[in-house]
Amino acid sequence: MRSLAADLGELARIGADPAGGVSRFAWTESLERANRWFVERLEEVELAPELDTAGNVIGRWEAGDGKAVLVGSHLDTVRRGGRFDGALGVLSALEAVRILKREGVELRRPLWLVSFNDEEGARFHTALLGSKAFTGDLDLGYWELAGVPQAMAASGRSFDRLHEATAVDRVAAFLELHIEQGPVLESRGIDLGIVTSVVGLLGFRARFRGEANHAGTTPMGGRRDALLGAARATAALRDEARKQDGMTANVGQIRVEPGGFNIIPGLAEFSIDVRSQSLEGHRRLESWVPELLTEIARDEGLEVELEETQRVTPVPLDEELATVLERAAGAEGASTLRMASGAGHDAMVLARNVPTGLLFVPSRGGISHSPEEYTAPEHCELGARVLARALGELLTQSKETA
Ligand code: GLV
Ligand code: MN
Ligand code: MN
Repeated sequence: MRSLAADLGELARIGADPAGGVSRFAWTESLERANRWFVERLEEVELAPELDTAGNVIGRWEAGDGKAVLVGSHLDTVRRGGRFDGALGVLSALEAVRILKREGVELRRPLWLVSFNDEEGARFHTALLGSKAFTGDLDLGYWELAGVPQAMAASGRSFDRLHEATAVDRVAAFLELHIEQGPVLESRGIDLGIVTSVVGLLGFRARFRGEANHAGTTPMGGRRDALLGAARATAALRDEARKQDGMTANVGQIRVEPGGFNIIPGLAEFSIDVRSQSLEGHRRLESWVPELLTEIARDEGLEVELEETQRVTPVPLDEELATVLERAAGAEGASTLRMASGAGHDAMVLARNVPTGLLFVPSRGGISHSPEEYTAPEHCELGARVLARALGELLTQSKETA
């Protein structure tokens, strides 16, 4: 018989990166292979699989009537990511289905299990593409600029058909299990987190243009060093985030041209990821980031270009579903803590459309987006059992939880 631990191990081998960790990106062969593997698992539990036009994999347990309860997460990863981020949410949902089937639970409404495509946006900065397509929150202009049509065509799909993936009107509620990706649960010795809200995030691609020139002959006073602009921006973002409650800032990618040890950088292109837990903080960042870059450009004699790549406002999750998850956790003897999520999740997209609940399991050392990501098997299994109970309640109004 299959187990959650065996599933996690098998899946981690698909897209294993020779440099360490797992790399599975949207519209590439490694994610396609993971999807095919997942389709086989869906067939084993007799869920009818569908690969929708946005590359989401959906397994349907059509039963009863009315709208479906949707459960799942994502199978794509960041570059050299861990084996739990996203994958555990999909596989624990699969395990929950196995539990419900084993217990002979009769559903009064359909249960759909989903793996959303491109949650991480690792390839084109197109994070949450699959869940956005599913909810009809299409960001076509940006996705087109980012190169999605070509990548889709190369993997045999059509950008023009993305809208056909919109199916949220057939969904009553969404549940996602995810690793915490932070240190809170482990450090406080708590089994599970019940998420009350998900952070808002803004993503940008920024470019400073200066003048490439000789490193040894150009006087220090007259240089227009694009990298210096990026370095100043990185430090200023860090300083601001340290001052503001619930704000984080990260520059995680940078490219310099022409790129020689003896050439002053003429161009620096870099990513900016800023997040805030509050709507006021989010609004402030929208104007503060462009102002900061403009000021640095003026000071350093640079030109600046700024493109927005991601915008999601902070979102509260559903109170009733939080209570359902707490009750299910209590029935499994698990301790819980209500908490906010600093990471982005498909749940933040779904939550704008349907009642949404998000359950966290602890992350060892709070480490994530790294090959060192780890959650103990007993916490993975506990999470799956709690998910099964919560789904059981939502899908049947069973005696013990009604
Ligand atoms: C997703 O992992 C994010 O928080 O960026
Ligand atoms: Mn992630
Ligand atoms: Mn994730």
